[in-house]
Amino acid sequence: MADVEHSGVFAVPEVKLSSSSGHRHMPVIGMGLAADPFDEIALKQAVLESIRIGYRHFDTASLYGSEKPLGEALAEAIQLGLVSSREEFFVTSKLWVTDAHPDLVVPALQKSLRTLQLEYLDLYLIHWPISAKPGELRVSIPQEELQLMDYKSVWGAMEECQRLGLTKSIGVSNFSCKKLENIFSFATIPPSVNQVEMNPLWQQKKLREFCKATNVTVTAYSPLGASGTKWGSNHVLDNETLKEIAKAHGKTIAQVCLRWSYEQGATFVVKSFNKERMKQNLQIFDWELTKEDYEKINQIPQRRFLLNEGFISPNGPFKTLDELWDGEL
Ligand SMILES: NC(=O)c1ccc[n+]([C@@H]2O[C@H](COP(=O)([O-])OP(=O)(O)OC[C@H]3O[C@@H](n4cnc5c(N)ncnc54)[C@H](OP(=O)(O)O)[C@@H]3O)[C@@H](O)[C@H]2O)c1
Repeated sequence: MADVEHSGVFAVPEVKLSSSSGHRHMPVIGMGLAADPFDEIALKQAVLESIRIGYRHFDTASLYGSEKPLGEALAEAIQLGLVSSREEFFVTSKLWVTDAHPDLVVPALQKSLRTLQLEYLDLYLIHWPISAKPGELRVSIPQEELQLMDYKSVWGAMEECQRLGLTKSIGVSNFSCKKLENIFSFATIPPSVNQVEMNPLWQQKKLREFCKATNVTVTAYSPLGASGTKWGSNHVLDNETLKEIAKAHGKTIAQVCLRWSYEQGATFVVKSFNKERMKQNLQIFDWELTKEDYEKINQIPQRRFLLNEGFISPNGPFKTLDELWDGEL
């Protein structure tokens, strides 16, 4: 597909999600709204700017603090006539670990909807495969407050959210193949999405094969390695192999990463509040990676980078990241 720009608005391909009510189509590119540092006004302006250039898919979470400014920006975009109705947007939010208890799921989503000023979400995700003592929304949770999730009843409550029409589809985030298999063993509505860390330095081959076979769309988060944030680093954007490939195509490393995600059949959420970089990240549909590029990308040593130290404590239910991921690569 060529980059199509009509009056400054880029067209973005979409994928159809399984198990969604109302046949929702998710735009391949989503705007990530976990911002570090967080500035409500800058975030609202960035969302409005992104809508002007063609973004329609937004990725937020109760944890991020971005639901309120996102909701305000969406309302303003409709008022300004940048889109004709809410139906044009695809909005994802996530259930935080402190609300990952069967009786708290529906109220947590209702609270997110009030904050967003929306009647429904397009996608609601379980943020992490772990629960914690109900309470304040925060990243660092003391070890004694972490608990193993009661997957069956929490997933049952997620299904209830979809049945009540509060969300068009439901899914998970940071789930390994083993944890997904567990959900499939009792789900009456299977998860339509698994949102995970994915980029050329953490390619998630096994998980992607499993998701393809089970009709779960993989959404890549930190597709650029979350450079400049406290949870990421420059390891992706400084990679020499990617630099070489980008130079040969006359593209940026970021564009190579996003094009790679797209060619893997994944959707992705990328954060940029800079107008030029937002545009750049949309310009990935009129060229492709070559067989030689793939030979190089497939040789890149694999390493997961997302920092969890403040969250997965040494003596908690998950002693190491490998345990959280069931030792899977
Ligand atoms: N489910 C989960 O557990 C989870 C975890 C992490 C993230 N997420 C989601 O995924 C989204 C994206 O991931 P992320 O924010 O971690 O990282 P990311 O999108 O990989 O990287 C964001 C960083 O890259 C910079 N950037 C963006 N486009 C660029 C370009 N073309 N060239 C150079 N630098 C560029 C941004 O700076 P500028 O803004 O200055 O351009 C920002 O510092 C999040 O915002 C969030 O919605 C989900």
